[in-house]
Amino acid sequence: MELTSAPLHKGQVPWRGLLLAALLLAYWNSPVSAQVTVEAVPTHVAEGANVLLQVHNLPTTLQVFYWYKGDTLADSNEIARFIISSSTNSTGPAHTGRETIYQNGSLLFQNVMQNDTGTYTFHMLTANFDNPTKSLQFYVHAPLPKPNITSNNSNPMEGEDSVALMCEPETQNTVYLWRINGQSLSEGDRLKLSIDNRTLTLLTVVRTDTGPYECETRNLVSTSRSDPLTLNITYGPDVPIISPSDTHFQSRTNLSLSCHAASNPPAQYSWSVNGELQASSQELFIPNITTNNSGSYTCLVHNSVTDLNRTTVKNITVLEPVTPPSIQVANTTFKELESVSLTCDSQDIGISIRWLFNGQSLGLTDRMKLSENNSTLSIDPVRREDSGKYECEVSNPVSSERSNPIQLNIIHAF
Ligand SMILES: *[C@@H]1O[C@H](CO)[C@@H](O)[C@H](O)[C@H]1NC(C)=O
Ligand SMILES: *[C@@H]1O[C@H](CO)[C@@H](O)[C@H](O)[C@H]1NC(C)=O
Ligand SMILES: *[C@@H]1O[C@H](CO)[C@@H](O)[C@H](O)[C@H]1NC(C)=O
Ligand SMILES: *[C@@H]1O[C@H](CO)[C@@H](O)[C@H](O)[C@H]1NC(C)=O
Ligand SMILES: *[C@@H]1O[C@H](CO)[C@@H](O)[C@H](O)[C@H]1NC(C)=O
Ligand SMILES: *[C@@H]1O[C@H](CO)[C@@H](O)[C@H](O)[C@H]1NC(C)=O
Ligand SMILES: *[C@@H]1O[C@H](CO)[C@@H](O)[C@H](O)[C@H]1NC(C)=O
Ligand SMILES: *[C@@H]1O[C@H](CO)[C@@H](O)[C@H](O)[C@H]1NC(C)=O
Ligand SMILES: *[C@@H]1O[C@H](CO)[C@@H](O)[C@H](O)[C@H]1NC(C)=O
Ligand SMILES: *[C@@H]1O[C@H](CO)[C@@H](O)[C@H](O)[C@H]1NC(C)=O
Ligand SMILES: *[C@@H]1O[C@H](CO)[C@@H](O)[C@H](O)[C@H]1NC(C)=O
Ligand SMILES: *[C@@H]1O[C@H](CO)[C@@H](O)[C@H](O)[C@H]1NC(C)=O
Repeated sequence: MELTSAPLHKGQVPWRGLLLAALLLAYWNSPVSAQVTVEAVPTHVAEGANVLLQVHNLPTTLQVFYWYKGDTLADSNEIARFIISSSTNSTGPAHTGRETIYQNGSLLFQNVMQNDTGTYTFHMLTANFDNPTKSLQFYVHAPLPKPNITSNNSNPMEGEDSVALMCEPETQNTVYLWRINGQSLSEGDRLKLSIDNRTLTLLTVVRTDTGPYECETRNLVSTSRSDPLTLNITYGPDVPIISPSDTHFQSRTNLSLSCHAASNPPAQYSWSVNGELQASSQELFIPNITTNNSGSYTCLVHNSVTDLNRTTVKNITVLEPVTPPSIQVANTTFKELESVSLTCDSQDIGISIRWLFNGQSLGLTDRMKLSENNSTLSIDPVRREDSGKYECEVSNPVSSERSNPIQLNIIHAF
């Protein structure tokens, strides 16, 4: 029991100079003996984890060592001591049942709580009156609560509203980080962070700011991440797009048109033909169309929140398929150097005509001439090489047809 009270404060002062001299002497005598140091591993620890209070360079003359809570060597603060000679330990009043003392000086502190944060002091008694104390500190951090994101506007309007996103709750010694679409964000013209990074401001939102947003909190010992938040940004409708893009359709087919406009909330669609409401849907379907279905088709989109309307008009022409043309020619046998005129005969209007020679598009030579919207092919004068198979092809935007072939024979003039 004579070891319990470490004679520290009383009678210490007059000895100080002597102790210092002894210390210096010890250093002088044994330059290899390094100073006793203590460290907490780790210094910052999560609640519930363990921390090891380590002692380095324990002197060989060590007899007893103590660990105290706080920085004064009051008996009531003693956690535990270790007696080298008997390799035994005993606990003090400040022992909480979670500390273990080891021969090498270390104190293992298990399952630490926040109120374990603080200063701890190592004290030792040696054979040569060199009885230093060493203090250290460690800090226990509560696990970070799962953060959540609050928005000051749950339904911002594109191009109008600015939104402040705040990462809750505010905690001490916490770093806040934001992610957008899983990417760490970079500040920009419209993206501002508060000084502590806890508030992210989106200036005049656009639809691509929808997110999702995540907020992450970090302190020295832990990391926590919020659930993703997606912004419901109201926008649109944009000018609608009608597909397919064709403007000409063949009669006796089915007409199927689809309209699409970007909009949040989704647009309401309606179709009108020549000004008359035809359908209140995104798709318009008219079976077995005739030329009477030609006209102007309007898709109207409406956003119930912005109360905006947009329209796109498409003029549609329904055409009958062309009928096969025929070739008119005076004769199929000509003498060299005579002139020949082929006429492509068709009942259809609004057609274009092209000529084929031996199954290939006809390459015009300087002896050939097209007229009457290509319906007449004149060859003047004809040559032997003009002999072959001639066809004409008529087409409108929805169909094309070829004539029966005409075989021209060009023979010697003599
Ligand atoms: C004291 O030593 C015993 C036996 O080695 C050990 O079980 C116990 O945890 C030690 N107590 C402290 C406070 O270190
Ligand atoms: C002291 O002993 C403990 C338990 O065996 C060990 O974890 C620790 O690393 C030792 N410390 C030093 C400084 O050797
Ligand atoms: C430290 O906090 C725990 C609960 O977190 C409590 O049970 C204990 O009494 C506290 N200790 C002190 C010394 O305040
Ligand atoms: C988010 O945090 C705030 C403030 O801490 C709280 O009022 C709100 O209920 C939390 N929301 C969710 C979804 O946890
Ligand atoms: C939300 O915060 C932004 C930025 O501070 C502000 O411009 C906006 O007016 C706020 N909106 C609402 C609905 O309070
Ligand atoms: C805020 O975040 C930026 C990166 O987005 C970082 O460079 C900066 O250090 C952070 N500031 C604080 C106070 O955490
Ligand atoms: C978005 O806001 C609109 C009202 O502007 C609402 O009708 C819609 O249900 C919201 N969408 C979601 C996914 O919350
Ligand atoms: C399409 O309409 C025409 C008359 O315009 C009719 O003769 C034909 O049978 C119809 N076809 C179908 C598949 O209904
Ligand atoms: C927009 O369209 C809706 C029907 O979709 C209609 O009731 C409303 O009057 C239209 N508004 C304007 C300004 O044309
Ligand atoms: C569609 O036709 C109408 C009248 O027939 C015309 O005024 C309008 O310019 C046409 N629109 C387009 C896109 O061709
Ligand atoms: C075609 O031309 C040939 C030779 O010039 C001539 O013999 C023949 O009678 C002509 N046939 C007709 C139907 O004109
Ligand atoms: C006439 O034929 C030429 C070449 O074959 C073609 O480029 C042109 O479009 C045609 N014109 C008409 C009115 O069919």
